[in-house]
Amino acid sequence: MPQTVKGVISRSKGAPVEVVDVVVPDPGPGEAVVKIETCGVCHTDLHYREGGINDDYPFLLGHEAAGYVEAVGEGVTEVAPGDFVILNWRAVCGQCRACAKGKPWYCFNTHNAKQKMTLTDGTELTPALGIGAFIERTLVAAGQCTKVPEADAAAVGLLGCGVMAGFGAAVNTGGVTRGDSVAVIGCGGVGNAAIAGARLAGATTIVAVDISDAKLEQARKFGATHTVNSAETDPVEAIRGLTGGNGADVVVEAVGRPETYEQAFYARDLAGTVVLVGVPTPDQQVTLPMIEIFGRGGALKSSWYGDCLPSRDFPMLVELYRQGRFDLDAFVSERIGLGDIEAAFEKMHAGTVLRSVVEL
Ligand code: APR
Ligand code: ZN
Ligand code: ZN
Repeated sequence: MPQTVKGVISRSKGAPVEVVDVVVPDPGPGEAVVKIETCGVCHTDLHYREGGINDDYPFLLGHEAAGYVEAVGEGVTEVAPGDFVILNWRAVCGQCRACAKGKPWYCFNTHNAKQKMTLTDGTELTPALGIGAFIERTLVAAGQCTKVPEADAAAVGLLGCGVMAGFGAAVNTGGVTRGDSVAVIGCGGVGNAAIAGARLAGATTIVAVDISDAKLEQARKFGATHTVNSAETDPVEAIRGLTGGNGADVVVEAVGRPETYEQAFYARDLAGTVVLVGVPTPDQQVTLPMIEIFGRGGALKSSWYGDCLPSRDFPMLVELYRQGRFDLDAFVSERIGLGDIEAAFEKMHAGTVLRSVVEL
């Protein structure tokens, strides 16, 4: 029997989100219905609301979620009812050129649930990032569910997006290793996860750069050994100064603006790696001297979803959390209800929270 549950939608461009009744079909072949426990509020949800992603309104928002599998459709072997899972954006095909190269985060044939969740009048909803988890139950492709050890859902659910993106940018894409110097530009949820990842990977110098002293203070708790307020001090000079005049082995850019891309580029050591995880808008441009690109060598990389393998990385990070070695609780600024998402967007904008997490 299809269930009718409460969920949060964005009905039209820029309009405040609404809590409405949503009809969730029984899982079909390859699908699963998940009872959502928690879902973090991410910038991407706000981008959907503002029309910055596409125009397929109405959107069912939310995508940083953990919960329990409630029911599975025909042929599902990945998960079973009762499993505690973290959701990821899309199930990968396992067979395309990217999957065959062991880089499934670039998979060409990703899929989500085939059936649609709807409003009670039958209007089809577009789930944010193929998930839609500001809702009591959601329908996903079974391959979007990664079984993990049981832990506080509010904390580990954040691995579904921002925290994984940041951690993976440093560790998977950047390949930070023991003894490295690392600079992280932008210390929101993504940047702090990169800092925490760099610390776990054994970096000895971790320079946090932000324009807010409060964010820099927080960054120290995640493992920053030095902080630079780039509204006051030239961050490139400062990073070079803290790394023997050289620049950092790995620079992670977690803002997504032209000036911070440029800073990241100049702050790397010879043969250093620049990892871009901050998402720019389509109209932004940077101009870089070719001799600088050539002369310093190294690599300029972008990081997609932290270049993560959910089945490898989610359980590993949950285990580190359970052992007290990765403080996911520190990313949870507040726990809120389904009706508080507009207020959470405002706090996100004001920069007063790392993550607001909806509890269902
Ligand atoms: N220089 C340095 N830091 C800056 C600058 C700047 N010019 N502008 C903003 N910041 C800081 C903010 O003070 C904040 O601490 O960058 C941080 C951004 O954090 P959040 O807004 O919390 O964003 P977050 O969720 O961490 O995502 C960062 O990564 O995945 C992408 O889409 C995401 O582009 C976004 C970025
Ligand atoms: Zn997100
Ligand atoms: Zn594939």
